[in-house]
Amino acid sequence: MDPKRSRSAPLVQPIYQSTTFVLDDESYADLLENDGLDAVWYTRVRNPTVDATGAEIARLEGADAAVMTSSGMGAISTLMLTLCRAGDRVVAARELYGDSYELFARYLPRLGVEVDFVAAAELDQWQETLERAPVRVVYAEALSNPQLVLADIPGLAALAHASGAVLAIDNTFASPRLLQPLSLGADVVVHSATKFLNGHSDVVAGVIAGSSALVKECRRSIMTFGSCLDPHAAYLVLRSLKTFGVRIDRQMASAAAIARWLEESPEVVRVIHPTLDSYAGADVARRLLPPGEGGGIVSFVVAGGDERAARLMRALELPTEATSLGGVETLISAPFNSSHYLMAAEERAAIGIEPGMLRLSVGLEEPSELLADLGRALAKTATAAARH
Ligand SMILES: Cc1ncc(COP(=O)(O)O)c(C=O)c1O
Repeated sequence: MDPKRSRSAPLVQPIYQSTTFVLDDESYADLLENDGLDAVWYTRVRNPTVDATGAEIARLEGADAAVMTSSGMGAISTLMLTLCRAGDRVVAARELYGDSYELFARYLPRLGVEVDFVAAAELDQWQETLERAPVRVVYAEALSNPQLVLADIPGLAALAHASGAVLAIDNTFASPRLLQPLSLGADVVVHSATKFLNGHSDVVAGVIAGSSALVKECRRSIMTFGSCLDPHAAYLVLRSLKTFGVRIDRQMASAAAIARWLEESPEVVRVIHPTLDSYAGADVARRLLPPGEGGGIVSFVVAGGDERAARLMRALELPTEATSLGGVETLISAPFNSSHYLMAAEERAAIGIEPGMLRLSVGLEEPSELLADLGRALAKTATAAARH
């Protein structure tokens, strides 16, 4: 019988705050036949609360299955170490979150995996690099952090599959509300569930979603790597997912309005948001995104470079100067001293992170109050810039 229909069943998923579970004949059989991957017997492998959260994210992504991890980086490193062997080749977008870039540029090569980086938006570059030699994994962010380059997922899928490669997409910035990479041809999706999926800036979590077979392989790796999620954290993510749709719709609408407003400001050199006519990937956005929607992040470049960007962040009253994104409170950060601080200025410039770039993660505050605050802070820092 459906547990939801049984008398006195809890409406809300309980937290199974237990490391271990009673063993029976079925658990022993599963351990012998299946590495214990299907039975619930130890929380590092399976836990009912963690599994319920994975199942809900699988539903949102249109995936057969999903497995939760301790963080977004836990998901990405688990996936890559599961898929790659020494001698394999990986082709990745050069526009990646800073620690993802570290994994690909520094750690995978140490293990004998060759990694080539290409400009995410240049399908010709992907094709040329993929055709050079066999490739195991093609990897990109659906919307890159922080340049908001939109990956042409159907185009990448066609190229990856022609080379026999797996297409893995980090869907953290876009979220499954904006696009579902699996429905566009990707084979596997990873997330920092820390961001929009949890949305309350109080949990670090990750997820890998895809076919049952690949998710099972990843679960086997998690069992050995220990990159599992704690049941209480999983409960918080599941609770947040109940409001995911309404939160992100409001965040996306406010972000689009703020992007339009920033584009009118003479203090702002460039605004990046997929809803703008000026967006470099406008043709891809028209093909892949619902009209008028472009995600909850706006990146922009202020006149006056990184120094002005740093002062602007301090001058704001509503957005908090903090790293991370996707939460109900608006956050602002500068890649140069947060997500991409490990990169030299020239390396940042090469991947489109210009001096003065800021990343605004739009929360649930009144958009008019955010605009008023941005206007005041831009004016205040412009005066200070003139004085110095
Ligand atoms: C696009 C993207 N992927 C992955 C991560 C890593 O996620 P976590 O901090 O949950 O490990 C981040 C973190 O900011 C990110 O922005």
